[in-house]
Amino acid sequence: MRLADQKEHAERYSALPYVLKNSALEKGMHFWDRWASFNTAFRRVLPEGEKSLRAYIDIEKTLSDRSGKAVGLEFGGIGSAVFAEFTPHCFKKTAGIALSDIRNRMRSDPTMQDDERNHSVIEGNIFSEELYDDIADWLGKDKVDLIFEKMILGTKTVPIEPYAVGKVLSKWYAMLSDNGLMFVEIPSGLEPVFREWKTMIDTQYKDTIEVQYSEYPAFRLRKLPGAPAEMPLLPARSVRAISKQK
Ligand SMILES: C[S@@+](CC[C@H](N)C(=O)[O-])C[C@H]1O[C@@H](n2cnc3c(N)ncnc32)[C@H](O)[C@@H]1O
Repeated sequence: MRLADQKEHAERYSALPYVLKNSALEKGMHFWDRWASFNTAFRRVLPEGEKSLRAYIDIEKTLSDRSGKAVGLEFGGIGSAVFAEFTPHCFKKTAGIALSDIRNRMRSDPTMQDDERNHSVIEGNIFSEELYDDIADWLGKDKVDLIFEKMILGTKTVPIEPYAVGKVLSKWYAMLSDNGLMFVEIPSGLEPVFREWKTMIDTQYKDTIEVQYSEYPAFRLRKLPGAPAEMPLLPARSVRAISKQK
């Protein structure tokens, strides 16, 4: 994305209502927060029997033994509200990645509370290499335990180009720790490719990568110990064949 386009998109997002810019994990402060929440977006990709995103991720449960050491990232959002709803101090640090840090333009600026929780906002474009240098500096030697991406209208800026999206997801996957979790909203138009990808993972990597897919469309990925270092993607010829069928 060119810098001028990046600025224009950033302006467009700053005009959205706050619930769509800084969504809650589950509750938020108002009833409409639940409608826009991460729980609403991702509860369909939780393992059978799990009813709540927060309870499933909870540091005492899925991310057990990471309490106080966990690292979380939201791609495509400032992440202030979503990480604020977890048990205090379970994360060592968290960050939101957005085109622009809009916190000081919000009705109630969350920067002070974010600083107390060791939450930062990193400005950048998920398709640019510089952003990943900034994230590497922020991470140091740490790996990431939890990744969210719920860009909503933000996915309109995502090129509907399976290779570009696959490349970005591979970068996120490489950052994940053993047992790390990734919750991703799929850009519309790419559902057939992701459906086929899920089948490939289930067939070839079912003991080391857990993927749950929903027609929302979204998926949950859990990188189990022994998972390949690089994210397995569909061969180019399969992607071409699926794209031709559309
Ligand atoms: C509609 S808001 C959603 C915010 C948040 N994820 C939520 O669910 O409340 C879209 C967000 O995506 C970010 N965004 C859009 N395109 C992006 C890109 N290419 N790289 C990084 N962030 C992007 C915008 O800066 C904005 O914060």
